[in-house]
Amino acid sequence: MAKTATAYVCSECGTVSPKWLGKCPNCGAWNTFVEELQTPKEPEKGKTAARFERPRPLSSVKEEKFARIPSGIAELDRVLGGGIVPASMVLLGGDPGIGKSTLLTEVAGTLSKAYKVLYVSAEESVSQLKLRCNRLGVQSDTLLVMNETALENIEECLDGVQVLIVDSIQAVYLEAMSSSAGSVGQVRECASRLMRLAKARNITVFLVGHVTKEGAIAGPKVLEHIMDTVLYFEGDAENNYRILRAVKNRFGSVNEVGVFEMRETGLAGVKDYAGIFMSESRGENAGSVVAPFFSGNRCMCVEIQALVSKTVFGMPRRMSLGVDYNKLVLMLAVLEKKANLPFYSQDVYLNAMGGIRIGEPAVDLAVLLALASAYTGSVVDAGTACFGEVGLTGEVRGVSHAEKRVRECINAGFKRVLLPKSNLHSVEGLKGKIELVPVAYVWQAVREIGKKQTKSAE
Ligand SMILES: Nc1ncnc2c1ncn2[C@@H]1O[C@H](COP(=O)(O)OP(=O)(O)O)[C@@H](O)[C@H]1O
Ligand SMILES: [Mg+2]
Repeated sequence: MAKTATAYVCSECGTVSPKWLGKCPNCGAWNTFVEELQTPKEPEKGKTAARFERPRPLSSVKEEKFARIPSGIAELDRVLGGGIVPASMVLLGGDPGIGKSTLLTEVAGTLSKAYKVLYVSAEESVSQLKLRCNRLGVQSDTLLVMNETALENIEECLDGVQVLIVDSIQAVYLEAMSSSAGSVGQVRECASRLMRLAKARNITVFLVGHVTKEGAIAGPKVLEHIMDTVLYFEGDAENNYRILRAVKNRFGSVNEVGVFEMRETGLAGVKDYAGIFMSESRGENAGSVVAPFFSGNRCMCVEIQALVSKTVFGMPRRMSLGVDYNKLVLMLAVLEKKANLPFYSQDVYLNAMGGIRIGEPAVDLAVLLALASAYTGSVVDAGTACFGEVGLTGEVRGVSHAEKRVRECINAGFKRVLLPKSNLHSVEGLKGKIELVPVAYVWQAVREIGKKQTKSAE
């Protein structure tokens, strides 16, 4: 076997140094040196040419049909695109305590009934793991567990293993490298090594990844690039609902979400999610509006809440949870200009219920109306929902899947829905089931929720 050595490489310009340097002598960048494994290449005469695959016409390539393996957790299968793809590599990221280990323990329990599964717990002892298995009701005689952090040792134990779970990638390290576990170099090397193993030996690999304070997976971005699938677990640790989202998936849609509830006995998939993202006191106080929004193929009603209070000192504060900050600022500008609601002396707080993150433009109108309602004090009644994209000119623009959205509102028990005028024709068929209120401009929508405060900005 070739002797391995490590070197430090500048991630900006590629300069190699035998020692770590704070500043790159070549490009002058600071803090860019990352440890890398250097394997000297031994040219094997004649062999490389034999392994080298010649270009061929696409028509001669056989389609590989892979049978997906059900994970036993319907919501996870849904996010993966219909089940686990054999020999794929899945990274599961999320805040501490969100339930990454819990989810993978449950998966390990189910898969171990039919496959040889190895759960490498690099963070917890095997007895802690056993305790969790007991709590979750994972009873399996065949599940293999180990507490190991050295990747070389883990590799030794992979004979016949079909599914490997590593909890977590930041806790394992290669002995050949001198940098500590969790460093950029270690994470990158360990992950690419596992990747090669997964492909060469047909092992399905699940990795747990920690996230940084900013919410990205800790380590190099290249970690996400080499994965087949990257999943994020979202939600408040205090709140029992969790959302599993694919941010990258080579075998399915990235927009699917799975909804889970954390119980003492483990994570339970939530099928009836209608009430999760709405509060019970909806309709009693000003500043809350519900919008049907799409995440993948799933339409869910989510409540947007806003709080507006007078700025007492200096610059007004704007804070947004679950909705893009820039969107909040944009909606405030539209309200000021097109509905004559002055927010310049008001602190504004915005929140999407249930810890969900919404990126869809169709919730614009709900954000805007929640803000307007919070400012004017007029309560949006519990039976009203709304959707639509808001343009900077104050127009309410049509959105996709209007019919499905209205249907979801009907399912969730709403009586009235404010929708873009241009979407009205596509939902004509639902007229008898729910009151449809078409709006073309934001001031019309603001007037609908509280007639007393409206000023026209025509
Ligand atoms: N005895 C228990 N009873 C109920 N819930 C528990 C118990 N122990 C842990 N949990 C839940 O499990 C969560 C930890 O899950 P875990 O899978 O270890 O998180 P992660 O691996 O993402 O850090 C805790 O936040 C808590 O909600
Ligand atoms: Mg854990």
